[in-house]
Amino acid sequence: MDNPSKPFLIAGNWKMNLNPDEVNYLAKKSANWCAENDTSTVELLVAPAFVHIALARDIRGDAGLVISGQDCSFEENGAHTGDVSASMLKDMGCEYVILGHSERRTDHQESNELIKSKAKKALQNDLKVILCVGETLEERDQGKEKDVIANQLERSLPEHANCENTVIAYEPVWAIGTGRTASAQDVDEMHSFIHNFLSSRLEKIDRLRIIYGGSVKPDNANDLLALKYVSGALIGGASLKADSFLKIADIAKEL
Ligand code: PGA
Repeated sequence: MDNPSKPFLIAGNWKMNLNPDEVNYLAKKSANWCAENDTSTVELLVAPAFVHIALARDIRGDAGLVISGQDCSFEENGAHTGDVSASMLKDMGCEYVILGHSERRTDHQESNELIKSKAKKALQNDLKVILCVGETLEERDQGKEKDVIANQLERSLPEHANCENTVIAYEPVWAIGTGRTASAQDVDEMHSFIHNFLSSRLEKIDRLRIIYGGSVKPDNANDLLALKYVSGALIGGASLKADSFLKIADIAKEL
């Protein structure tokens, strides 16, 4: 096996998209895929907006479709209007939460320290964390991309993170929603770097899953998923259509 860090994680980040009918359709199609395929080799995950989590969970039923939150609070509970706690996500059937997405870092000025405290809270509540890191185009053009990623990992990964409860998502900011994918060589280099960088910090590093995000589509999925340290994909745009999302899952299945 080329990539020891299996199963693949094929994760659809629905962001602030879809209406209830569309959630219904996509969740049903995804749940059917899970019922028909071996989810011990490809874990299929969807991250609906908070208000659609219960709907997706009910439609999923007993199928192995995994549900994730898109964010959570660093607080346990209390007077925090508009926030959603890790324990609420857990209670609603989520197994994962995405943290540190570049849209949260930009839209809500989330710092590495805040992301770390959210990750800590998520792990305390038995949620697995998909921790997103990524450099801007300006940082890459200046040749600083590895420093940026090292800094984000160093400062946002909580002490209790391990290879079982945490997945790293490398998402170059300039590749998200732009149609511009990082080259296989760029991804290969960065994933190897992350693997090596975290090897001194995490035990059993070969079990760490590092997934790639940024304009992943059926057209480029094979080249990206075939890379040694790529254990899956975090998919935005292409996860909003059942055909493209499940095609990527099919591609992972064949690798
Ligand atoms: P994209 O989004 O696939 O639309 O580029 C990826 C992400 O933001 O996770």
